[in-house]
Amino acid sequence: KIAEVRDAIKNSADGLQDRRAVYETRKSFLEKSGRIGQLMKYMKEIEPAQKADFGKKVNELKSWAVDYFDSLDEKIKQKELQSRYESEKIDITLPSTHRQVGCLHPVTQVRNQLIDVFSGMGFTIYEGSEIENDYYNFTALNTPKDHPARDMQDTFYLSPEFLLRTQTSSGQIHVMEKQKPPIKILSPGKVFRSDDDATHSPMFSQMEGLVVDKGITLGDLQGMLDVFVKKIYGDDTRTRLRPSYFPFTEPSVEVDVSCFECGGKGCNFCKHTGWIEVLGAGIVNRKVLENCGIDPDVYSGLAFGIGIERTAMLKYGINNIKQLFESDIRVLSQIDDN
Ligand code: PHE
Repeated sequence: KIAEVRDAIKNSADGLQDRRAVYETRKSFLEKSGRIGQLMKYMKEIEPAQKADFGKKVNELKSWAVDYFDSLDEKIKQKELQSRYESEKIDITLPSTHRQVGCLHPVTQVRNQLIDVFSGMGFTIYEGSEIENDYYNFTALNTPKDHPARDMQDTFYLSPEFLLRTQTSSGQIHVMEKQKPPIKILSPGKVFRSDDDATHSPMFSQMEGLVVDKGITLGDLQGMLDVFVKKIYGDDTRTRLRPSYFPFTEPSVEVDVSCFECGGKGCNFCKHTGWIEVLGAGIVNRKVLENCGIDPDVYSGLAFGIGIERTAMLKYGINNIKQLFESDIRVLSQIDDN
C-alpha cells in the first residue's frame, strides 16, 4: 500500500507544469483527508507487532512526499523565473527608438540671441506694456495728431484713448520719464499694426534700444550695430547707414547689411543690390528728450528698433512671416541654434 501511494505521487507529479498544480496535487496527498492520511485506515488490519513499523513507514512516506513536492515546486519556480528573464530581457546594444525633442521657437531664439549680444554691451531689459495711449506711442515721440508719419503705422484703437502700441519706441518715453541719463536699455516686445501680407503680420515683435548720455553720436550707433550684425549674421557681414526718416530721431537712418547669400555681389535675395535692410535707427530727436525733461544741450541719445521676426526670416531664409506663426513642426524643427 505504501509503495502504491509513493508510485501514485510520482506518476501524478511528473507531468505538472505550474506551481498551482503542484500545490493542488500536494494537497490531495498530504491533507488530513489526503491519500497518505487515509493509509492510517489500514492500521487495524495490521498485526500488532508490525503496527509500529507501519506507522513509521507512513511517516517516512509523508516526509519524503513533503520533500518531493518542495523540490518539484522549487524546480518549477526556477523555470518560471528563467522564462521571465528571457522574455523581459533588454538588449542595451539595440539602437533606441527616435524620440522627438522640442526646441525654442525661432522668434524666441533670435530674441534671446539679441538680448545676449546687447546685454554683453551693458544694456538692461525694460519691458513696456502692449496697451498704450496716444501720447506714449505717438505724441511724445514727436508725432502729433495729423502728422503724416502716423500713416506709416496703421493703428488698432481699443478706445478713443487707448491703443495697441505700434512700436516698442513708446517704451523710450516711459524710461526717460522715470530715469535720468546715463540710460542704456533694451526693450523687447510685441507690437501691433493693421498690416497683413507675406512680410507683415498684424502682430510682430521688436527690440528697441536706447542709449542716452553725454556725447552720444552716430558713431556709437554704428559701432554697436556693427557688433550686433556680426554676431547675428556672421563675422564677414558689413553694415551701411542710409538716410531715412522717423519723427523721433534726427538724423534717422536705415541700416543695411551686406547680403549674406551673395556676399554683396548681388543676387535674387537682395534684389541685386548687394544689401539687405535690417533696421531703423537714429539720434534721438531733441524734442523727444525735451518731452521727457532731459536737456538736449547736455545729453544726446541713440535709438534703434529691430524687427525680431524680420531678423529671424533673414537669418533662417524664411520668406513668409506667417510661417513663424503657423507652428508647422516641419518648418520649426529645421531651426535650432540653441
Ligand atoms: N519704431 C521704428 C519702427 O517701428 C523703428 C525705430 C526705432 C526707428 C528707434 C528709429 C529709432 O519702424
